[in-house]
Amino acid sequence: MPNVKATELQELFAVATNTLKNSYSPYSKFKVGAAVLASSGKIYGGTNIENASFGLTNCAERTALFGAIAAGERKFKALAIVFSQKGLGKLSTPCGACRQVMAEFCSPDMPIYTADVSSGKPEKVVHKKLKDYYPYPFSPEALQKKPRRTK
Ligand code: THU
Repeated sequence: MPNVKATELQELFAVATNTLKNSYSPYSKFKVGAAVLASSGKIYGGTNIENASFGLTNCAERTALFGAIAAGERKFKALAIVFSQKGLGKLSTPCGACRQVMAEFCSPDMPIYTADVSSGKPEKVVHKKLKDYYPYPFSPEALQKKPRRTK
């Protein structure tokens, strides 16, 4: 598993928690923040963005990854996801759509950290690998093609 330093993890949670404050979630009132550490060393934040046409909602994880990819990143070392819902019982996990998007760009061993930040700081931290959440991704091999990346 790629090594994530304690300071990097702290920074990931800080960016995810700050970005969660920009959550646009008037329908669900469920705020999510995410931050991804790219192989360049840069961290990109994302939050969930809902829409009156509910199906167009974009999750925090995909917002973070898409922003990083649009900035030119292609490889990632770690992802943090923070949830804030007072009285949250069991800590949430990333949705299936986000897991599939992660599988396109992230190694099966990439660490994913989740935490509840309803108190203002990360609590109930869970640490898993992408392959724990998503062991059998749909992959480009099924298309008998490698992704033709321009970079
Ligand atoms: N949501 C995320 O941002 N990430 C997840 O992993 C699960 C769900 C958002 C989407 C929607 O805005 C709200 O949480 C409720 O589903």
